[in-house]
Amino acid sequence: MCGIVGYVGTRDGVPIVLEGLQRLEYRGYDSAGIAVVGGGKGGLKLHKAKGRIRDLQSSLPKRLKGAPTIGHTRWATHGAPNDVNAHPHVDFSGRFAIVHNGIIENAPQIKERLAAEGIETTSETDTELVAHLIGLAAREHDDPMAAVRAALRRVEGAYGLAIVDAEHPDRVIVARLGSPIVLGLGDREMYVASDVGAIVRHTKQVVHLEDGEIAQLEPDGFTTQTLDARPVQKVSELVDLDAADYDLGGYEHFLRKEIGEQPEAVERCISGRIDERFSTVKLGGLNLEPHELRAIKRVHILGCGSAYYSGEVGAHLIESLARIPATAEAASEYRYRNPVIDPNGLYIAVSQSGETADTLAAVEELTRKGARVLGVINQVGSAIARSNNGGIYIHAGPEVSVASSKSFTSTCIAFAMLAVHLGRIRDLSPADGDRVITALRELPAKIAAILEQEDQIEEAAGWLAQFENAMFIGRVRGYPIAREGAQKIKEVAYLHAEAYQAAELKHGPLALICPEMPVVAVVADDELAEKQRSTLHEIKARQGPILAIAHETLPTELAERTIVVPRTEPELDPILMNIPLQLLAYHAARALGRDIDKPRNLAKSVTVE
Ligand code: AGP
Repeated sequence: MCGIVGYVGTRDGVPIVLEGLQRLEYRGYDSAGIAVVGGGKGGLKLHKAKGRIRDLQSSLPKRLKGAPTIGHTRWATHGAPNDVNAHPHVDFSGRFAIVHNGIIENAPQIKERLAAEGIETTSETDTELVAHLIGLAAREHDDPMAAVRAALRRVEGAYGLAIVDAEHPDRVIVARLGSPIVLGLGDREMYVASDVGAIVRHTKQVVHLEDGEIAQLEPDGFTTQTLDARPVQKVSELVDLDAADYDLGGYEHFLRKEIGEQPEAVERCISGRIDERFSTVKLGGLNLEPHELRAIKRVHILGCGSAYYSGEVGAHLIESLARIPATAEAASEYRYRNPVIDPNGLYIAVSQSGETADTLAAVEELTRKGARVLGVINQVGSAIARSNNGGIYIHAGPEVSVASSKSFTSTCIAFAMLAVHLGRIRDLSPADGDRVITALRELPAKIAAILEQEDQIEEAAGWLAQFENAMFIGRVRGYPIAREGAQKIKEVAYLHAEAYQAAELKHGPLALICPEMPVVAVVADDELAEKQRSTLHEIKARQGPILAIAHETLPTELAERTIVVPRTEPELDPILMNIPLQLLAYHAARALGRDIDKPRNLAKSVTVE
């Protein structure tokens, strides 16, 4: 969703900020803007444009140069995506320009207060209100930090903010409450961003702001304090990221690059975690003793979209390997049904970004009610990672494409490891522990083998792309994969797709089967293979064209096309069966000329409800 980049130093900040904003494009946005302080009172220069950063860049006035500079990509929430609503917003006095990620919940009350002061707004945004509040507070506070603090004490909601002050052309002020802000330390220059990916090309020495903190950045350093002016000592850390992770590296799209990175991502997720001596897995970040893990009577997994479906894969893994009842649920629904907290339950929040507002809110609700919550997270130090009691980092590396690929797979791997861990302190035998661990180790090579079938999958995608609708089916552990496959093709190819449990077809959706309704069937050669084949016969009898994702034993006459997936242990089949579905969605989207990495209407991190 929205992105923030800022710079203060001796160089021209405009190209630095624009380049940083481009690195955040993947998060999704519909307008962009930039503000520069040219020095002295009234020295604010602004430029904003609806559309892409290239639109902003191509219309940029030559005079727009200098530093401090702040920039923003906006994903519209309050008000339409247009030049007026785009950030930065300037206060009534023309002194402060601000960019904002998040939502101001008490906007109507602030608006009333501003109206009482005779201050009118020009945009439909909640952000502009904060700019005016800062302007008002500056009437009483000479120090701009004090003015920002005073203004923010009147604000309810979530924000990541960057502010420049025309009267102090040597600084950027930033603040955080519920929306990430990271400071980057350079040599006599400082950077700020809502995502470290925007500044990693310039510096890897970073400081993460915590909620309720505000910082003043000047070329020579920064100071941090709380909203009530208590100084905070921050320690910088070196981020283990490579600027190349955010480059296409010769690929046409990030989605294809990230699908191809899965063998290494899986290796990384497993690396250092296998305990061969005890045929188990070590997961140091759980922060739970064996007796606490043994006391767990049920596992509840929460996430949104693909994270939710990977949680469904995880629930099957935990139930089958650890024999603990486990379920997954959409985090977006969970918090609104006033959930009864299970005192013997373990709750697990799944999120690639660690920022998804619905998942974060579910975690906060659970924590508030005293539940024990773990996270399965990609983004180290993210809001969800910090707000739970421990968990597993999946180490998939940065995922730039809006559509999840490697994070889905690595989350499933993390769940497989957790299931072995929970199983081995219960009744999973050493032999079964070894069986799954060996299979996990073999997965990277098997994923690489599937990727080599790309030509065949591309041909199948071209065929699928001719249809307007498709049905994805699977059974039991294959069903979450059918859901994920349908979701992927919807989001990147804009092809209408529905996922069904294969056995449910005959209870209704079979009526839709005809030559115009292709069925993508996830058919592992497992204990349900015979039943799955019967379903395929039923579809064939009604002239439904079938694309099967199957093991080599599936009779070829049962499907028009079959993508053969290598065998692994049955519990891990879904992980491999998902890989062809990712390539299928990618190539269908490519055949249809879609904006693959930035699908319409979507954002990478959904930080609003
Ligand atoms: C999947 O391709 C989407 N990007 C989306 O469903 C995503 O999984 C969901 O929004 C949750 O995101 P998170 O993992 O960052 O919490």
